[in-house]
Amino acid sequence: MIAAVILHQMRVFFTGAYRKPREINWMVGMCLLVCTLITGFTGYSLVFEQLSYWGATVGANITDTVPVVGGLLKRMMLGGEAYGEATLSRFFILHAAVLPVTTVLLLAVHIALLRLQGVTDFRFADEREDEPHQFRFFPDHFATEVIIGLVLMILLSALATILPAAMGPRADPLTTPGVIKPEWFFYVTFRWLKLFSGTFAVLSMGFVGFVMFVWPFIDGLLRRVWKGSEASVWIGMAVALAIIGMTVWEAGVEH
Ligand code: HEM
Repeated sequence: MIAAVILHQMRVFFTGAYRKPREINWMVGMCLLVCTLITGFTGYSLVFEQLSYWGATVGANITDTVPVVGGLLKRMMLGGEAYGEATLSRFFILHAAVLPVTTVLLLAVHIALLRLQGVTDFRFADEREDEPHQFRFFPDHFATEVIIGLVLMILLSALATILPAAMGPRADPLTTPGVIKPEWFFYVTFRWLKLFSGTFAVLSMGFVGFVMFVWPFIDGLLRRVWKGSEASVWIGMAVALAIIGMTVWEAGVEH
């Protein structure tokens, strides 16, 4: 799901589909991305094996480095000073109730905006401008989504049965494993934290998140100042390459 969301975001970005009037839908999309990432993090931390226990502990310690509110956020996240029973209950409620409901509600807004504004219209060179591009919500759009959803569910259920997930070593608060690794989608942030330790790393990551959030407006400004500029494509390519580079780097290192 995370890979699909990232690919979707890249397609939206590189086709400029976030531009006026779709700025708000891009921001709703960013909220969906955050929900998806937190769902991944809480799910990973719920397994109660060594890697998930220590992954959550490292995550909480990173949160602690946020100036002013870090300590409070860490305690809210763990339900105490350290990972314990309260943490599992919190993560479970977040993972199985709060985040799925929030995601579905955000998705309803995302799709409603999409239906109101229409998908960004791309036309083939030999296509007439006035040829209408229409795709009815019901039954066409709805049926397509249901079919894709069902196919994915069947595929994932089959995969989960054929290749069942195995449990790693049980969580042990007294033994720090030699290797602490987050899931692949956090490799980039993990590498960033290793390159620039402490508060700077956390604040700069927050800044990057903020820039991504308001990108449609920054892009609008760039295009006003610099007429006809496609700077966003170059910036997007540089960021995508940096993210891929840091992910591969982190995947390749011995821990
Ligand atoms: C759970 C995650 C998400 C789901 C299920 C989802 C679903 C969709 C669907 C079905 C469409 C219409 C089809 C298409 O254009 O591909 C769409 C369009 C769109 N999405 Fe998402 N999306 C998600 C996350 C995101 C993210 C992370 C962003 C960007 C930050 C985003 C921004 C947009 C925008 C701007 C459009 C309009 C595209 C256009 O007009 O061509 N979405 N989304």
